Amino acid sequence: MKATAAAPSNIAFIKYWGKKDEKLRLPENGSISMNLSNLTTRTTVEFNSKFKKDLVVIDDFIDNKESSRVIKQLDLIRKKANIFHKAKVVSKNNFPKGTGLSSSASGIAALTLAASKAAGLNLSEKELSILARQGSGSACRSIPDGFVEWLDGNTSESSYSLSLYPPSYWPIVDIVAVVSKRKKDTSSSDGQKLTSTSPFFPERLSRIKEKISHLKKFLKNKNFTEFGQMIEEEALELHAIMLTSKPALIYWLPETVKLMKAVKKWRNDGLEVYFTINTGQDIHLILEEKNIKQLINKLEKIKEIKNIIINRPSFGARLIDKHLF
Ligand code: PMV
Repeated sequence: MKATAAAPSNIAFIKYWGKKDEKLRLPENGSISMNLSNLTTRTTVEFNSKFKKDLVVIDDFIDNKESSRVIKQLDLIRKKANIFHKAKVVSKNNFPKGTGLSSSASGIAALTLAASKAAGLNLSEKELSILARQGSGSACRSIPDGFVEWLDGNTSESSYSLSLYPPSYWPIVDIVAVVSKRKKDTSSSDGQKLTSTSPFFPERLSRIKEKISHLKKFLKNKNFTEFGQMIEEEALELHAIMLTSKPALIYWLPETVKLMKAVKKWRNDGLEVYFTINTGQDIHLILEEKNIKQLINKLEKIKEIKNIIINRPSFGARLIDKHLF
């Protein structure tokens, strides 16, 4: 009754922001993402009748808030498998968590796959995605491979993710520029509760279906320029909703804005790169493989950048042999 899984974080090109059902985590709109090869979580789960209580160790620490979120997810899985044993969970991220790099997506996806296997369940990709969604919305996109669409759905059964294209489909790159390891003040889950307080949110929703279909067309045609322009506009629209929520959510730091401006300048100078940002200060730079060297040369000259993480499109969650305990 022990299993281990690895799962990638993902970057949304069309973002998930706002829920039409808080408990089931049904999103207000569909979203599109890419799994990231170098932001991963590995998790081992063991259910055992000898364990007196659930134990959750993430990156060598026990944290009550994080443990209760993990235990909620274990409860869903125990219910489905009809088992009652307590569990030991050990999880390791290869990147800083709580800073906007979507560790909850990779973390909940790895947990869902490892725990369901350890509980004796053999779930389909769709079933795993539905379960992962209930632990963290964006986690449902870390289950399938490569370029992924999350269908919003009106019921739990119809709100899940599927792969649009495998990782090898399009060699685009996501270079994450880490500008601070500071944890964000407001989690995505809490921030999302404010969505309806922005007067611009209904306007966003009225255009989102059309936006998704355009982005899917740009992906299909591998039209990098139109694709890049749209994802950058989308990130700014997401932050416009956050900035106009009550109270306002400001996730950027001065370093984030400096990089946003630098991206515009580099583009004017002929280097085709676009940015996207989630609920954090770090910036994702999206470019084609052929331009990596040129961009890294530029990033190395910016003293505010603490670290860069180069990601290519990745597989989704998978079982691995090497247990963490
Ligand atoms: O799944 P959550 O609750 O961590 O929310 C993710 C929200 C964004 O990262 C801002 C957008 C997205 O679609 O990933």
